[in-house]
Amino acid sequence: MHVITLDSETDFDGWRKAARALALNGVDPRGVTWTVRGNEPELFEAEPDTSLEETPGTFNVPAKFVELAKIAILHRNPERFALLYRLLWRLRSNHDLLEIATDPDVAEIGAMAKAVRRDEHKMHAFVRFREVGRESKSHFVAWFEPEHHIVELAAPFFARRFADMPWSILTPDLCAHWDGHAVAITPGVAKSEAPTEDRLEEVWRSYYASIFNPARLKVKAMQNEMPKKYWRNLPEASLIKPLIAEAERTTAAMVANAPTEPHKAQKRVEEDMPRKAASSSDSIAALRSEAADCRACPLWKNATQTVFGEGPSRAHIMLVGEQPGDKEDLAGKPFVGPAGQMLDRALEEAGIDRTKVYVTNAVKHFKFVPRGKIRLHQKPNTPEIKACRQWYERELASIKPDLVVAMGATAAQSVFGKITPINKSRGRLIETGEGTRALVTVHPSYLLRLPDEHARAREYERFVDDLKIAARFLRKAAHAA
Ligand code: URA
Repeated sequence: MHVITLDSETDFDGWRKAARALALNGVDPRGVTWTVRGNEPELFEAEPDTSLEETPGTFNVPAKFVELAKIAILHRNPERFALLYRLLWRLRSNHDLLEIATDPDVAEIGAMAKAVRRDEHKMHAFVRFREVGRESKSHFVAWFEPEHHIVELAAPFFARRFADMPWSILTPDLCAHWDGHAVAITPGVAKSEAPTEDRLEEVWRSYYASIFNPARLKVKAMQNEMPKKYWRNLPEASLIKPLIAEAERTTAAMVANAPTEPHKAQKRVEEDMPRKAASSSDSIAALRSEAADCRACPLWKNATQTVFGEGPSRAHIMLVGEQPGDKEDLAGKPFVGPAGQMLDRALEEAGIDRTKVYVTNAVKHFKFVPRGKIRLHQKPNTPEIKACRQWYERELASIKPDLVVAMGATAAQSVFGKITPINKSRGRLIETGEGTRALVTVHPSYLLRLPDEHARAREYERFVDDLKIAARFLRKAAHAA
């Protein structure tokens, strides 16, 4: 029996060196026990394994395995080192092993890597810094309890994102610290070391209350996005229960006051539209989960998360915006900030129920430049729009809407696959093929940016008029059916 003791839970280089030596010495995976220094069962607190000969020679494994192994080794399952060595062993005689998705070892390493990536995303989204000290001596400290060994993996994101402020993220496994120049890693600490309340808490709470939309409350979906175990470290979590209760009261009042029969024309739009044949393409949930790991362009590096489209999977209308903004990036949902509020109002005036519309963006990651603590929106460029277009195409194939509304130049570029001037195409229905039509209009942020009040009011009316074209088209389509 060979006992391999790695230096730490995340010692990929140590694992790789040992695995290579074991394989070159022909050691069957069943003859190896893997442990981590400090965690060895007493029986194994022995001398390091010197029985492996320095065997010259080499062998290749697919680059995909190395990438997968670097992530899967961060999983908390103690069997991961053995699983990785078993796969390496098997890859030597079957180079294409990783392509066999039904193989139990391949499925398991894939699931482990996915769980680690999911945990990394959760850490990016749910770390909340508390300010310790004041003004020039400020230091920002956060407490987080990761599911897997992801502190070193996740730390560079915080260094890029909060480059201007010194911070520490404390966890029970390891702590990461940023002094404005480099990330340092130190051993884990107890929760009692972490600061509790500070003056930033109120900012988080008012921000959360401002983006909470009772009309779009889905408790289950919300808990999937923000599982309860993270609540105890989120300042805004204390608001969740009262906001849900308030939303339920508001909804109950709306139901009590609602007319018993929907308007006839509206009813036809909702119920009688011809349904397209069910698509064999991926479901939106599957696409969303795939897109969470998208690295097709560099924008993922600084964004908190992928902001995927949202809405019914059989929506008749698909609204396409440019890219998530600051609030969308933090909330993980499209159009929840100021542009979203403008859009909600215009949709309502045009007679379109937002909850029946699928809302998405041409680009799914927030692009910005940091200016102190503010993140300034930047327009995505053509390579970024092109890299992200696959997601729009796949959303389109899955939803099969009757009408796509492109809001702004970036959306139009994605919808038509080429630069499309807004003013030339605006306000008319354009055939895009495969039974879908497109309508081009301006982006709601354009209205927010207009400095002149009159111009803003005039342009807003034009925007609502464009959306009314969409509403009429759907009514007509329903009639024709
Ligand atoms: N602007 C967009 O284009 N999309 C959003 O989701 C928010 C603002």
